[in-house]
Amino acid sequence: MAFTEQDFLIQEKWFNKPNNLVIKSVAPSNIALVKYWGKHGIQLPMNPSISFTLNKSQTQTTVYLTAVDKLSDKVSFKFYLDQKHQADFEPKIAGFFKKIQDFAPFITHFDWKIYSNNTFPHSSGIASSASGFAALSKIIIDLEKQLYPPKTATYYAHKTSFLARLGSGSASRSTAHPVMIWGHHPDIKQTSDLYAIVPDFEIHPVFKTYKDSIVLVEKGQKKVSSTVGHNLMNTHAFKNIRKQHAFEHVLQMTGYLKSGDIENFIKLTEAEALELHALMMTSSPNYLLMQPGTIKIIHKIRNLRKDTGLPVCFTLDAGANVHVLYPDEITRQLQQLLFSKIEFETIHDYV
Ligand code: DP6
Repeated sequence: MAFTEQDFLIQEKWFNKPNNLVIKSVAPSNIALVKYWGKHGIQLPMNPSISFTLNKSQTQTTVYLTAVDKLSDKVSFKFYLDQKHQADFEPKIAGFFKKIQDFAPFITHFDWKIYSNNTFPHSSGIASSASGFAALSKIIIDLEKQLYPPKTATYYAHKTSFLARLGSGSASRSTAHPVMIWGHHPDIKQTSDLYAIVPDFEIHPVFKTYKDSIVLVEKGQKKVSSTVGHNLMNTHAFKNIRKQHAFEHVLQMTGYLKSGDIENFIKLTEAEALELHALMMTSSPNYLLMQPGTIKIIHKIRNLRKDTGLPVCFTLDAGANVHVLYPDEITRQLQQLLFSKIEFETIHDYV
């Protein structure tokens, strides 16, 4: 049975109230194969999505907690990235704390100093919000464990993803590995709109060592927030067909991941990436995040596949950079035939 919001409310009184605590956590980023695009209510997805966890691109977070003298209904905190105070990030974190307060009422009892750093470079375009909110949610659950009587491992796993989702939708898929599904799908057991799950089937060995190399067509942190794009889906002319596709695609993708069907995995992964960008190009107002370099790399990948049969494909997130996905065993060939022949810097080994 899936958990409900009520299950994540805390009924017990806390039995332990420390004055000072230090808690650390690490959380990975992820890349969606079938994309989350469009949302409703409080961070609920329009459709289910499925992702690979990027184990080597992580946010590492340490929080220093001090019990507050006077209780307020707002969480008192400061956020530091690479040891520097980052006021720009604080409104989003404040919004997150507010959204999770009913489910973690103990957070207002402490003053929070949050120190984060990412193992991936700023230039990578990987959004740190997914790994960042997942890391912070892990800390909140760790704190809950220290304050209240123990619950099941499943409760803690689902609640971590549930909290992360309230920070950023894709963060719900950054709390476990190697694959996560977020969003209720009638044909996939245990799935929920409230949190992401690790599917209960074994994924084929070929996908366990899959690689993601990011071609940096555009350097720098992601500029356009996905929130605008999600909102445009509410009135999008293709909303219903997109929903239908996403439900079909998630089911098909789970089949390919189980059976190791790389050929269909490639077709579907690329179709999803292009559909995501097609939705951006056909929303009102429309916008275009791909750059000439994005198209150039896409063609190179497709031509290489045609000429050599190598099972390499691409996906895109909400930006111009290209994620190149391939099985571990063709790494050396790709180095020679693709990565050494392009003018863009590439970050390797991010799964
Ligand atoms: C294109 O999770 O960044 O990467 O919930 O508003 O924080 P918010 O959006 P966000 O959207 C991610 C969109 C995507 C597709 C995906 O990761 O599934």
